[in-house]
Amino acid sequence: MASSSVNARLVGYISLFFISIISLASGSNNKIADDEILKLEPILRLHQLAAISDSPHHIQRTFLSKASLEAGKLLQTWMEDAGMSTWIDNIGNVHGRTNGNNPSAPALLIGSHYDTVIDAGKYDGALGIIVAIAAVKSLHVHGLLEKFPRPIEIIAFSDEEGVRFQSTFLGSAAIAGKFSEHLLSVVDKSGTTLEAALKASSVPGTAESIIGMKYEADSVWGYIEVHIEQGPVLEKQGIPLGVVAAIAGQTRINVILKGLQGHAGTIPMAMRRDPMTASAAAILNIEHICKHPEEFMGDLEQGKRNHFVHEGALVCTVGEIATWPGASNVIPGEVSFTIDVRAEDDLVRKSAVSTIIKRIENISLARQVFPRVEIKHEAGAVICDSDLQKQLRFAASQALRKLPSSVFQGDKQCIPTVISGAGHDALMMAHLTKVGMLFVRCTGGISHSPDEHVLEDDIWAASLALKDFLGKEIPHEEFAS
Ligand code: GLV
Ligand code: MN
Ligand code: MN
Repeated sequence: MASSSVNARLVGYISLFFISIISLASGSNNKIADDEILKLEPILRLHQLAAISDSPHHIQRTFLSKASLEAGKLLQTWMEDAGMSTWIDNIGNVHGRTNGNNPSAPALLIGSHYDTVIDAGKYDGALGIIVAIAAVKSLHVHGLLEKFPRPIEIIAFSDEEGVRFQSTFLGSAAIAGKFSEHLLSVVDKSGTTLEAALKASSVPGTAESIIGMKYEADSVWGYIEVHIEQGPVLEKQGIPLGVVAAIAGQTRINVILKGLQGHAGTIPMAMRRDPMTASAAAILNIEHICKHPEEFMGDLEQGKRNHFVHEGALVCTVGEIATWPGASNVIPGEVSFTIDVRAEDDLVRKSAVSTIIKRIENISLARQVFPRVEIKHEAGAVICDSDLQKQLRFAASQALRKLPSSVFQGDKQCIPTVISGAGHDALMMAHLTKVGMLFVRCTGGISHSPDEHVLEDDIWAASLALKDFLGKEIPHEEFAS
C-alpha cells in the first residue's frame, strides 16, 4: 500500500485538478459545485487517505507512525482548502478553524480520528473527518461560512483506536482534559514510551504541554461526529443515515498468566503449571460470563434485570494473545491476552469486569499459575444530547429529501435511532461538552476489516446532512425547510 501511495495520491491530485476545472467552468452554479464538494471529492479523498499506510499489504496508521504523520499533513491541506486556519497540536491532532461571524462565541467542534486498526478499512474515523471538511468547504465556497454564528473547528484526532499504546482516545482525551500524566511512561511493543514517541515527532512530549491543551467548557458549544455505523442496523432498515442515542462504555484489560516453562515431552500432565491451558479456560469463562449476564446480575429485581441484560447489552472480546517462548515443544512460561468489555450500562460492565477478574483468579489458583490483571482503559457510557439528536435527525431527513429519487426511495422522515457498541471520540468529548453523532450505513455491518464498505451515495448523504445541520443556523434560502 505504501509503495502505491505516491501513485494513488497522484491520481487523486489529477482528478482534483479536473474537478477544479469543471468547477471553474460551472461558475456560480452552486448545484454542480456542491455535487463535486459533497459527493465526488469525499470519495476521492477517502481513497487517497487509505493509500497512506505503514504497511504495503494493508491499511495501518497507528498513533504517530510515519504514515500517520503524513496523513495528518494531508488532512491539514484539505482543511486549508476548505477555508480554515490550521495547526497540529502537541499530541498530533490536526485542527482546522473558522471564525464564523463571531470569533469569541463558543465553538462548534466536529471531529473523528485518522489513526486506524491493523488491516483496517477506509472509512472508520476517516469518513467523519472527510465529510466534515466537505460540509465546511461547501459553506465556504458559497460564501456562507462567514455567516455562521460561531467558530467551527474540525479536529482530526490522532489516536482513537489505542492500537499502539492500548490507551485509546489519546487525542480527544487531551482536548477534553482527561489526559493523565502516567500515560507518558506507557510503552509500545518496541519498548518506546509515549513520551519518547511524542518527542520523536517534534512536540515537547511533556505532561504540561498536553494537560495545557484542555479546552475550557465555556469556549465550546458542542461536539458532533459523523461515523460509519460499524454494525448492521441501518442496512437492515434500508436507510443510509441514523442518529446515535448512546455510546456503550468500555473497559480494556491486559492479563498475564505466569506458569512453569518446561519440556513438552518430559513433564507429566499432572505436574504441569501451564499458563496456556489456564488462559484457554479463562477465555471460555469470559465468553460464558458475557453471554449470561443474568447470572452475575442475579440479585437485581426482575424489571431492572430485564432492562440491564437484554441481548447485546454486554459484549466481551479476547482479541490478542501472546505466548512465551512460543515453540511447539515448549510448555509456555507465560501467556498474555487482552479483554475488551463493552456495555450500554456502566453497572453491567463493572459487574462483568469484577466477575471476570475473580474468575481468572480462581482459575489461576486451581491451575497454579500467577495472574497479573491490569485495567488499561476505562470509559463510561455516554448519552447523546437530546437537542443535538433532534437537529441531526432533521438534517438527515432533509439530506435524504435532497437526494435524487433514484438513490433513495424510502421513508425520509423515519431516521432510525441507534446505540453505538463501538467507542468514539465523542465518548471522551462528552466530558467537555454536549455531543451528537450521525451514523452512516455500512455494507454487512462489517468494520475493522479491509472489507469495510460505505456506498458512495451514502457518503454523499452524510455530507449533505452535515451541511444541512450547519446550515440551519445560517439565514439563507438554501436551508429554508
Ligand atoms: C474503536 O473503534 C473501538 O470501538 O474499539
Ligand atoms: Mn475503530
Ligand atoms: Mn472509529
